[in-house]
Amino acid sequence: MCGIIGITGRDDAVDGILAGLTRLEYRGYDSAGVVVRDGDELLVTKRAGKLDNLKSALADEPTSGRVGIGHTRWATHGAPNDANAHPHLGPTGRVAVVHNGILENYQALRAELDGATFASDTDSEVAAHLVERELDAMDTPDLFEAVRRTVARLEGAYSLCFVALDDPDTIVVAKFEAPLIVAAADGVGYCASDVAALIEHTKDVAALLDGQLARITPDGVEVRDLAGNPAEPHRYTVDWDLSAAEKQGYDTFMLKEIHEQPRAVADTLLGRFDEGRLHLDELQTDEREFGRVDKVFVLACGTSRYAGMVAKYAIEHWAGIPCEVEEASEFRYRDPILDPHTLVIAISQSGETTDTIAAALHARDQRAPVIALCNIVGSTLAREADGVLYTHAGLEVAVASTKAFTTQIVGGLLLALYLAQQRGRMYGSEIEDILGRLQQIPSALEQVLELDGEIRQLAEQYQAVPYTMFIGRHVGLPIAYEGALKLKEISYLHAEAFAAGEMKHGPIALIEDGSLVVALAAAGHVFGKMVSNIQEVRARGASVLAIGTEGSTADLKANADHVLTLPEAPHELAGPILSVVPLQLFAYHIATLRGEDVDQPRNLAKTVTVE
Ligand code: F6R
Repeated sequence: MCGIIGITGRDDAVDGILAGLTRLEYRGYDSAGVVVRDGDELLVTKRAGKLDNLKSALADEPTSGRVGIGHTRWATHGAPNDANAHPHLGPTGRVAVVHNGILENYQALRAELDGATFASDTDSEVAAHLVERELDAMDTPDLFEAVRRTVARLEGAYSLCFVALDDPDTIVVAKFEAPLIVAAADGVGYCASDVAALIEHTKDVAALLDGQLARITPDGVEVRDLAGNPAEPHRYTVDWDLSAAEKQGYDTFMLKEIHEQPRAVADTLLGRFDEGRLHLDELQTDEREFGRVDKVFVLACGTSRYAGMVAKYAIEHWAGIPCEVEEASEFRYRDPILDPHTLVIAISQSGETTDTIAAALHARDQRAPVIALCNIVGSTLAREADGVLYTHAGLEVAVASTKAFTTQIVGGLLLALYLAQQRGRMYGSEIEDILGRLQQIPSALEQVLELDGEIRQLAEQYQAVPYTMFIGRHVGLPIAYEGALKLKEISYLHAEAFAAGEMKHGPIALIEDGSLVVALAAAGHVFGKMVSNIQEVRARGASVLAIGTEGSTADLKANADHVLTLPEAPHELAGPILSVVPLQLFAYHIATLRGEDVDQPRNLAKTVTVE
């Protein structure tokens, strides 16, 4: 959700903050703001709308200082207008705050501040008031101590970042259930919501843990717990560099990331097989535990959950273990039946999705081991889980997930094979054969990307169709869901996905002349059934775009209006890694033809750290 950055110890702190906000804008883009300390004043500039509005405001009326904090907002409490943009000041302008998260008890806290006037409708502003009040009550004002006393009274999720006139050159931050990274390099102190904002300054960072606070000065970072005792954050070194956070010649991050899929998939597959066995060493869990697993729950949200659906098919097929896939937001409030032999796989690109983290912890309360399938090293989910399998997608900036999804599918296949191996269901030679075949996927992906021109022509033809239906069976079904989600989220056109076998039970009533149906129809054991479903919708007036594979094309050409022919997947269960790519490109081209901002679609944010 919101993005936070703080810098202390640089004469041009504002420039540094704006550069950091540019890298964080994908976390929220309803409004943006910055505050710097200039002599005995905290100067706030903030604007509704995208970061460019803030940049223009600062170009017209520049501010400068050696210490400052900035924010890019995804609105929760209060409309996305100038007043609700962060930073917020305390009543006398002595303290400024930026916040990511939700302060659940803000109304009660506001009520306590009898007679206080608030300049915004946000939950966050009260934090600046409370800190200012604490400072007022101290003989020797100390920002760290004032923040420590304040956060002890907060309920909800927060990463909070404060500056105050009383403590020149100091930023104080506090973290609970919303990510916050701190770092110091070359006489400058930093904090940010994620490493993308810091990567140009340093790769050595520390993620604060829940309940930790930090005092950041140009001399370094001091981390303490809520009781004020020294505390150790999670320190790590980032393994990617600045180029990952830049477009590198592509028009958008989304297009760049679509084209990075061959490399991302290859990296995720790399070096897994040795001496006759599949090794997932990063899991760092007792290998024998996997042999005892008798049930699997996959927990995730959105696109990650669709990757989990592919994993389910693979786990059931190869490992022979019952597997359920569930929305983390539902699972966390249910009474699921788990025990120490239930394996939970929590899938999250960011590793910061609140619902997925909460669902994983809910499962662990019942002593079920939790494996995170995660893209961001050092993220909250990765730290909380008993073991982690990392996808190697690299930094994903576009809000609409693409390369993270395909690498999550690879990760799910690896986990399924690993479970099969540990349960003695598959021999090393069989696994080696499958892994060998999976190595062909990157070059097959390159071939799929060559269909881009053809897909753009289709997008031109169908860009005005108000409703698109996606249908699929077996592993084609999650891809139908993902295709519909991609189209909805970046083009704002209505799209829905159905199991093709469900069409006759209701959804086929929607079909009329001019409807567009995208059918996932790769060669495989459900291909014949898909052809029948295509005939049924076509007979009722739909135009059909079929996603087929070499070998199935003749049948499709006879029945569909358009056929995109993909190379045959090296294994049926790996087919989704290829078949999702045309749908990503289709959504991409429709959205750009309609003039939409594909990297920052409306109402969305990349990382959902609130419920
Ligand atoms: C859609 C998309 C979202 C995410 C979801 C979970 O393109 O990206 O649906 O998949 O918000 O995010 P992570 O994987 O970070 O937990």
